[in-house]
Amino acid sequence: MHMSADLAISLNDKRLKIYELLKKGYSGEKIAKTLGISRSAVWKFVEKLRSLGYEIDRNYNILSIPDPSPLDAALCSKKLGVERFLYFEEVDSTNNVAKKEERSCVLAKRQSAGRGRLGRKWESEEGGLYFSFEFPRKVPAVKAHRVTILIGLVVAKTLENFKAKIKWPNDVLIEGKKVSGILCELVGEELSSRVIVGVGINVKNELPEELKDKATTLKTYNVSVTDVFCSFANTFSEIVNLEWNRILEEWKRMLDTIGKEVEVRVGGEIYRGVALDVDDEGALILKCGDKIERIFSGECFYM
Ligand code: BTN
Repeated sequence: MHMSADLAISLNDKRLKIYELLKKGYSGEKIAKTLGISRSAVWKFVEKLRSLGYEIDRNYNILSIPDPSPLDAALCSKKLGVERFLYFEEVDSTNNVAKKEERSCVLAKRQSAGRGRLGRKWESEEGGLYFSFEFPRKVPAVKAHRVTILIGLVVAKTLENFKAKIKWPNDVLIEGKKVSGILCELVGEELSSRVIVGVGINVKNELPEELKDKATTLKTYNVSVTDVFCSFANTFSEIVNLEWNRILEEWKRMLDTIGKEVEVRVGGEIYRGVALDVDDEGALILKCGDKIERIFSGECFYM
């Protein structure tokens, strides 16, 4: 069982409007009038905001906003094509919640059992960005890899100003170190599945000592978790409806694996060789001695 959400809100809920008007500096009275609600409804929501960590004075001036800011994230999550937004101070894994809640985006300040690919753990200390959402279209299982590639591209473009690159298939690296991981999971029917997209980005979280030579954060760039989330959502909305060929082209432009000597692990098998190219579905074309291998998924290491 999950704990209940600290905020669960439908994206057409009037409370989002209250928040927008508070940010514009409206008084309680003016908000109530503008939205046709009672002043006590406004007061009740202001109390809710305070409990979420927003500092709001007696005159309803917002003095400080927490990071992540659940209300700003809820507003941005409209761009992901979802209908509901859930926020947790702590949850086991946002993917687990998003699987159960249809058409939702789930954001958590920290995860107690964040999951990575291949059954690994995903470190989820406070300060990082951890969210999951349902991809806005149903996808046949055979095309699910396209969603993963698309999301890798969205993350890389979100972090492009920080010199992000993609390591095949969809790890996002900055200066050779992993800054983000993506875990897409399919739920339901094979011919028309719901895809749950889970994204973790190291923003200003502390990394455990043993990860420091492989992983990095955005600490030196001084960005907020909320900004990174909103920039992801904007980028997603700009490219989600592009034709597959355009997505692939952009993805290839940000891929830094081509030409490198790599080792790719696929289940129990290990391939070593030079990454020559990727094909029309994003599979890696590897020259191993005098053999050419086409690899659809796996874990890639630079030699
Ligand atoms: C990887 O192994 O690279 C994928 C990591 C994915 C982590 C994110 S954090 C939000 C979402 N919830 C999870 O439990 N995992 C994903």
